[in-house]
Amino acid sequence: MGMGWKLTKGVFTASHATSKALNNSMQQGMVRRQANRGWRAAASGLIGPFDPPPPPQAQGYLDYGGLATYNDLNTEDWSFPLGRYVEPRKRWEAKERDQLGISESVANKHTVVYAPTQAGKTTSVIAPWIYYGMRAGYLVIALDLKGNNDLRDKVEQYATSHEPLPGAGFGSFDYTNPSESVSWNWIADLKDESSIEAAVEALVGRERDNDPNQAFHLRDMRWMQGLLELLGGSGTTWTVRMVLELLEDHPRFQHLVTRQKGSRAATRLADLAFVPSDEYYTKIQFLTTYLEVLNIDGFVATTRRAELSLDDLADDPGLFVVTAPIGDGRLSEAVSSLFLGQFLQRQYKKFNRDDRPVLLVLDEAPRLKDRIDLKKLMSVSASSGMSVLLAMQEVTDFEEKERDVILSNCGTHILMPGGGQKTTEYFGGRLGTRIATRQTHTSGFGHHQGSNFQAGLQTADVPVLGRAELASPPCGPYGAFVQSYSLSRKPILVDLARDDLT
Ligand SMILES: Nc1ncnc2c1ncn2[C@@H]1O[C@H](COP(=O)(O)OP(=O)(O)OP(=O)(O)O)[C@@H](O)[C@H]1O
Ligand SMILES: [Mg+2]
Repeated sequence: MGMGWKLTKGVFTASHATSKALNNSMQQGMVRRQANRGWRAAASGLIGPFDPPPPPQAQGYLDYGGLATYNDLNTEDWSFPLGRYVEPRKRWEAKERDQLGISESVANKHTVVYAPTQAGKTTSVIAPWIYYGMRAGYLVIALDLKGNNDLRDKVEQYATSHEPLPGAGFGSFDYTNPSESVSWNWIADLKDESSIEAAVEALVGRERDNDPNQAFHLRDMRWMQGLLELLGGSGTTWTVRMVLELLEDHPRFQHLVTRQKGSRAATRLADLAFVPSDEYYTKIQFLTTYLEVLNIDGFVATTRRAELSLDDLADDPGLFVVTAPIGDGRLSEAVSSLFLGQFLQRQYKKFNRDDRPVLLVLDEAPRLKDRIDLKKLMSVSASSGMSVLLAMQEVTDFEEKERDVILSNCGTHILMPGGGQKTTEYFGGRLGTRIATRQTHTSGFGHHQGSNFQAGLQTADVPVLGRAELASPPCGPYGAFVQSYSLSRKPILVDLARDDLT
């Protein structure tokens, strides 16, 4: 703090009118008691919204005066939980009865969790949200970035201490465990031009402004699009491995293109297929690198049969998990983007239709930014009946232009402890500023009792919550700050600690 403190024009200003009034010893006593309370709060290290202003000598305390008090909350029946309300005074503890949360319609304005790795976001937020989504009849689509059933286990663990889920099914697309996975031949499932375009974006990457290799990138996209169209018109069920074998055989490839002569696919592939062979084998590498990533046994095994069509996904499971361990790098990115791109492209067509609601859970969302149009996702999905729960580590994981569109499309923001400077700054910036008061210098306060005691207040425009305050919520390891306008104009301190785990 210490920024721009200025005198108020209120009752307690140090104007001579007030000083005169304070000559009355009773009033002086009252003011002194008030000052003492402010001093004690500051000395405890934490100032909350219930505390009187601290004295000017007070230093080194954290000022949580901008937090919501219980009276600031519009508590409603909730569908998705946000932890227990922490009353910002005395013991700074959550009470069992004050479980907070948001309704389905507020969740439909999307939610973002800012949390460094291992902050507990899966256990504290993601798993409980999936559980409640399933209970409310949502189709929940989620990425498991750890593998070994991390996500499913954490949802089940949560369910064991809550009401059991009535018959909600579970499905997975998991190249790390083909025997448990549904088989999804994504190539056969490319049913129209927009699904092919989404697959191209997921494999080759999205078009970027200022890309120095833009011309090559566009060419690669055109070839990939042509290739996928060619395969779709071939009457065969292809795996990536089979496609790579095809591309490594120039005459065979040429033959297939010739068979579809005059088609859009053939036109797009003409400058690749009908060149001398040495040129062909040089050029084809540009295309095969995108596919090689997916050429691993597990992925080939889980894509061999056309068992699942994403059009039917909403008919069955409560939870569908796509496993793509983050340690697999580009493979993980390609698989999650391929699936999501296809799913989203179908979901967007449900514009304003009365379908089953969807909860999409995207852990580490910035990872997908080059392959999925997240700006579109955030701005279009609400009207298609889809609510998004994003999790990310730092706001800097997005480029600034994109970040603002993505995050300003979130109605609820959850900040878990340990965020970096830019992230806390961003969250703090969203909260804005407030007028804070503190006591003016009261010379001799506490020593010269009864002498010329002068008390007054100064005000200043300060952040609703400062950076130091935001870095560590003052209520145990699973404390968090929530900003959700439906609950309060002010930020809310919550405790996400799970009773069943502690
Ligand atoms: N709300 C909670 N109450 C009690 N314990 C918790 C809570 N949240 C997390 N934990 C503990 O912390 C561990 C790590 O949590 P979790 O795996 O959910 O973190 P994460 O942020 O999802 O990690 P990662 O970034 O690796 O995905 C859990 O195994 C659990 O024991
Ligand atoms: Mg996790």
